[in-house]
Amino acid sequence: IYGPKRRNSRGVNLNIRSHFYPLMDKMGSFMDKQYLAKPLLAFDVADDAMNIHPVTSPFDRRKTVGSIQWTSKEQAAKALDAAWQAFPRWETTPVTERADILRRLADLMEEHMAELMTLCSREGGKLLTDGVDEIKEAVDFCRYYAMRAEEAFGQPIELPGPTGESNRLMMSGKGVFAAISPWNFPVAIFCGQVVAAAVAGNTVLAKPAEQTSIVAHRVIELLYEAGMPRDVVQLLPGDGPTVGSVLTSDPRITGVVFTGGTDTAQIINRALAARENAPLPTLIAETGGMNAMIVDSTALPEQVVVDVIQSAFQSAGQRCSALRVLYLQDDIADRVIEILKGAMNELRIGDPRDLGTDVGPVIDDDARKGLMAHIEKLRSENRLVAETPMAAEQTQHGTFVAPTAFVIDSIDSLTREQFGPILHIVRYKSRDIDRVINDINGRGYGLTFGVHSRNESFAAEIAQKIRVGNVYINRNIIGAVVGVQPFGGQGLSGTGPKAGGPHYLQRFVTEKTITNNT
Ligand code: NAD
Ligand code: ALA
Repeated sequence: IYGPKRRNSRGVNLNIRSHFYPLMDKMGSFMDKQYLAKPLLAFDVADDAMNIHPVTSPFDRRKTVGSIQWTSKEQAAKALDAAWQAFPRWETTPVTERADILRRLADLMEEHMAELMTLCSREGGKLLTDGVDEIKEAVDFCRYYAMRAEEAFGQPIELPGPTGESNRLMMSGKGVFAAISPWNFPVAIFCGQVVAAAVAGNTVLAKPAEQTSIVAHRVIELLYEAGMPRDVVQLLPGDGPTVGSVLTSDPRITGVVFTGGTDTAQIINRALAARENAPLPTLIAETGGMNAMIVDSTALPEQVVVDVIQSAFQSAGQRCSALRVLYLQDDIADRVIEILKGAMNELRIGDPRDLGTDVGPVIDDDARKGLMAHIEKLRSENRLVAETPMAAEQTQHGTFVAPTAFVIDSIDSLTREQFGPILHIVRYKSRDIDRVINDINGRGYGLTFGVHSRNESFAAEIAQKIRVGNVYINRNIIGAVVGVQPFGGQGLSGTGPKAGGPHYLQRFVTEKTITNNT
């Protein structure tokens, strides 16, 4: 497992260089390769020119990555039939066999790291360094869930009983799971959902995000190479509402594991609830955040700025964990803002495949337009604090948004998650700290949160009072490591359980108690 070895206590990559440079030599052949990603189903899928969608790179829309053939409603329904039929066989496949497939996939993803990270960059606009982290996280998910599945489901749990009676608790898959994933972690989250559901004994219909289906397709090809039967995991690229509605309206779907926007999770929840004569489903939803950080006057301003820059602007702010609202105590605010301005001025925006780039593009034009509307509104209210300079020649053919920081009066003015490199700063006085905590909790989101303070009891008290899934003290608030920082939120940010945590797989199984009076 990479996680614990990979980072020091501040979350900084330690061995990125030793992994990175040999990979760059191998990336060349994948830089221009053109891909065709068709649905990967239990049955052969005919070419369908009407359903082919071209894929271009977010950093330069003149560059093509290939094309995707979207899944039709009829194909989705037929895939569901196959998944339903395969379930009894897969459910009784020994867990060690299921887990071995995950381990082989992990090995294959490591072997194909150069290709997968190149695709993350070409298709998803990720920096190469983010791409390495992404693939390593997917590898971690495979090895961690394989290990946890064997521990948890290898043997039934023997329970006490009176003489002559044995009691055993058995765990098995629930049925057919739909795994619906976002574009911002096109390998890690996509793969984590699929392998968790499958290793627990479920058959899986995987719906990757429209924007990043090619890399997802490559992962499923590797999964088949690792030995996964084609009817156990199927890939259904396509339009969210179209493919999603087939899956979420069918009574044979016993569970949905979803990561994406809170609004989409609510649509899925309603669709599942509206099914007639359907079993009550499992919904595991990991959604958006309105993540905050509180900095008191004892914090170290330089360290605060390093952690704020990473939290708010790494991956162009397109992490659910990213920092959106920075609370600065009045006594330290001017100093932090001054250093922050300097640091933001130094960031380089551009081609994510260039090692000197700090901030790549946002995913597409819709995302850019939404973020720019928010930026222009705050700019017109004279709230701009800092903005990273953006050179037109590096960015004109892509969908770029410059990192910006604004001062606002309160988190209450933010009506929705702004999923990009926009930081909001709120100044507060120390006597108002309880109001600040109430304001943050009052938004209803609860994903990540940070506190910077050298006053340990202050930090501990805040950490206890804030209602979120992941609290980080005196460090950045992104980059949770599998098996080390189980990840996921509460309230509007998700249902739990935490991905990469010891309780995750339990939500994918059903329990049966067998009492035998011998
Ligand atoms: P999204 O909600 O637009 O899409 C996510 C997935 O849902 C995609 O595959 C999409 O095709 C599908 N979808 C869309 N409509 C659907 C419908 N009606 N029925 C079924 N499926 C449907 O999200 P996105 O833009 O891809 O991702 C960004 C969002 O994801 C942000 O809000 C971010 O905070 C969140 N996110 C959360 C986590 C977490 O762990 N909490 C992690 C990553 C991203
Ligand atoms: N797990 C990802 C992070 O922590 C979303 O940044």
